[in-house]
Amino acid sequence: MLYIIDSANLEEIRSLVEYYPIDGVTTNPTIISKEHNPDFLALIRAIRSIIGEERMLHVQTTATRAEEIIKEAYALKEIVGGNFYLKVPISEEGLKATRKLKGMGINVTVTAIFTQQQALIAAKAGAAFVAPYVNRLDNIVSDGVHVVTEIVELFKLHNITSCRVLAASFKSIEQVHKTSMIGCHAVTLNPDMFQKLVYHPLTLTAIEDFNKDWAAVYGDRKILDMAEN
Ligand code: G3P
Repeated sequence: MLYIIDSANLEEIRSLVEYYPIDGVTTNPTIISKEHNPDFLALIRAIRSIIGEERMLHVQTTATRAEEIIKEAYALKEIVGGNFYLKVPISEEGLKATRKLKGMGINVTVTAIFTQQQALIAAKAGAAFVAPYVNRLDNIVSDGVHVVTEIVELFKLHNITSCRVLAASFKSIEQVHKTSMIGCHAVTLNPDMFQKLVYHPLTLTAIEDFNKDWAAVYGDRKILDMAEN
């Protein structure tokens, strides 16, 4: 499963890329606006420079007409470079743009997915990823993981291999875990979720015990010191 950072905060991205096996970054206008950076293009260029050319960078269009979406896609692909995906919210104009961009060889992630049929038709239109919003579905007493499960199942049933499911909008590790259990291809997470993924109090206790037991016999001597002497 791919782990993607859902943020445009440069410090957080830099730190996460250093510590975690990160496959890319997703942004949207809300995420971008949180950085209060008047130079949007400089911000996405900086993200690309931190994550390198190979990791995916998904940048969302702000255009609403297919022709404008296509022009933005070309401009952004040129500016962002590397492994680039244009995010397009699902709509008729978005689907039209997706079909044309697929033909032009530009990867599209169709986002703001709330139903299984939105995902299926986006995949048929040529999306490389569809992004269902798990927590926002849970918030309306729907079932986000169930929707993701059925999208993954639909893609298997209809032999759709050109489109993957990039689940988004997570607030709990339980949501992430259940999403990974059903074979979802990718998740995009807020930076603070990564720490929560690896934290466990019993792990900290185990490490304290290891250190204490070692020190009882070897004091503050390190393995490296022993190996070098
Ligand atoms: O990638 C989409 C995501 O940013 C939406 O998440 O937390 O605003 O529901 P959220």
